[in-house]
Amino acid sequence: MKLITDKIGDWKRTGDCGSLRRDDIGREVVLMGWVNRRRDLGKLIFIDLRDRFGLTQTVFDEEYDEASHKKAGVLRNEWVIAVKGEVAPRLAGQENPEMPTGDIEVRVRELKILNETEVPPFQVDGKIDASENLRLKYRYLELRRPALLHNLAMRHRIALTIRNFLNGEGFLEVETPVLTKSTPEGARDFLVPSRMSKGSFYALPQSPQLFKQLLMMAGFNRYFQIVKCFRDEDLRADRQPEFTQVDMELSFAGEDEVMDVIEGMMVDLFSKILGCLISRPFPRIEYERAMELYGSDKPDIRFGMELVDVSDLLRSSDFQLFTNVIAEGGVVKAINIKGGASFSRKELDGLNAMITESVASGLVWAKLRSDGWQSPLSKFLTPDSRGRLGGRLGAKAGDLIIFVADKAQKANEALGRLRVEIGRRLNLVKDGTYSFVWVTRFPLLEYDTDEKRYVAVHHPFTAPLEEDLPLLEERPEAVRARSYDLVLNGSEIGGGSIRIHRIDLQNRIFRRLGLGEEEVKTKFGFFLEALRYGAPPHGGIALGFDRLVAIMVGAESLRDVIAFPKTQRATCAVADAPSTVDDDQLAELGLSLLCP
Ligand code: AMO
Repeated sequence: MKLITDKIGDWKRTGDCGSLRRDDIGREVVLMGWVNRRRDLGKLIFIDLRDRFGLTQTVFDEEYDEASHKKAGVLRNEWVIAVKGEVAPRLAGQENPEMPTGDIEVRVRELKILNETEVPPFQVDGKIDASENLRLKYRYLELRRPALLHNLAMRHRIALTIRNFLNGEGFLEVETPVLTKSTPEGARDFLVPSRMSKGSFYALPQSPQLFKQLLMMAGFNRYFQIVKCFRDEDLRADRQPEFTQVDMELSFAGEDEVMDVIEGMMVDLFSKILGCLISRPFPRIEYERAMELYGSDKPDIRFGMELVDVSDLLRSSDFQLFTNVIAEGGVVKAINIKGGASFSRKELDGLNAMITESVASGLVWAKLRSDGWQSPLSKFLTPDSRGRLGGRLGAKAGDLIIFVADKAQKANEALGRLRVEIGRRLNLVKDGTYSFVWVTRFPLLEYDTDEKRYVAVHHPFTAPLEEDLPLLEERPEAVRARSYDLVLNGSEIGGGSIRIHRIDLQNRIFRRLGLGEEEVKTKFGFFLEALRYGAPPHGGIALGFDRLVAIMVGAESLRDVIAFPKTQRATCAVADAPSTVDDDQLAELGLSLLCP
């Protein structure tokens, strides 16, 4: 490509492309930016000039300045230019109220072409029709689009507001190592081979968990960090292998103090960024209750439709599917969908298909008509028991009841999923509403059938509830943790706990997790040693920063709030990573590949 560019010389911008208004009319200005769009009307050429701050219409008028008009004839979208000219009012009727600069235009006297461009792989100012992979590969072009730019500018402001708030609350931001040892957060580690110690590996942190606890032992009192974390796990819309946390830890604090700081931070953030008043304290619900009522540990409480246990009303019915499940220790649970009697057979089949993977029996429905029940279940129930079921569920004519029978956990999860899906379909939540809820006291341990041992639900440094400790050996799954998740609109945006600060208890938990003395020593020896030198009681939390930003800007995917996100296959499409390395590099690291 033959460049025909001009030198920028001593030109300096007088401002950006988003700020000129009526008051500036008559001013001589210099603007620089990208050609967003051109309209060539012969004697007049209009160029919308774009930069991060907005768009300004510039006009090249043959009668006003012939040389620059002629030069403008070659301009194409996305070329980089500089213009010098005078701010003028737009002709009457040509104003554009949609554009902040829509009252004015710049009449150009001089044009410099600072750079050309090859034909871009997709139009920046156009429909999003290119494939996601192409858009991720040319992310720097995609980032020129106002919507993404807006999201990232919001991300910056959200981070700044959080930093200012935490600074005001006496928190110190401290950086912790990235090349370090594995911290168990339940995902696979990303490993980095060491050249100096061949055969040894660093792990990228899944979180700064142990280091922030060490900072408490160091007496830092209140720590925070906006920090990258790395987890090699399967991706979903709300997961990235490399993501950001607002990580915090507080000394001498219990649950209330941690929650108090976070609630204050959210109230401050939502008022400053979105102008929204969030009321506090946020509601709290224990994990077990959340599962019973919402079938989820991240309940969306913006609408009701709670799960209701109706096992007792159906135990002696003639409907064997239900009575068998109940006899085997299972439950029958139901939700009432207001106005749902109009759901078509096809819709009901669709809902059924959603859950049959996890709940063998699927769902049973009952439409409440003004003349009675329409349901495969009706003939097995007396009018009296139909009345009692309807009463417990608060169901009226026009409603739809959905029943699911299974072991409690499965029935809850299935109905919980249906509840969220139906809430979405029926538009039960208003845009722009934000419902926070704390889910507390998760189980400390769960049995991992693959590993055939108990594993920590949160992480192994989480303190058990004192009153449940006697159950640790006999009924480990009944021990509750001093843990809490912060849930916003049905999305888990944070999780934390009060920690174990005594070495005897920490060792007891490691033993309960079936970790041998040697394993504990190699994995956590440094940490256990630190616990010996005066660890204060402490606790903390980490917020998923990407998730929080996504909700605040109304983005569907975390990719929309990350400048250079990973693809579905965890690759960096811009830089084409991961990629192979030279044999020399491998040799230097003492590595050879099993699958070259
Ligand atoms: P946890 O593992 O719950 O806790 O993580 C905290 C929050 O981080 C977010 N998150 C993610 N966001 C995007 N992509 C991911 N792959 C991803 N994984 C987690 C979630 C989650 O709530 N060290 C503890 C915190 C503590 O105990 O203080 C921890 O990391 O929003």
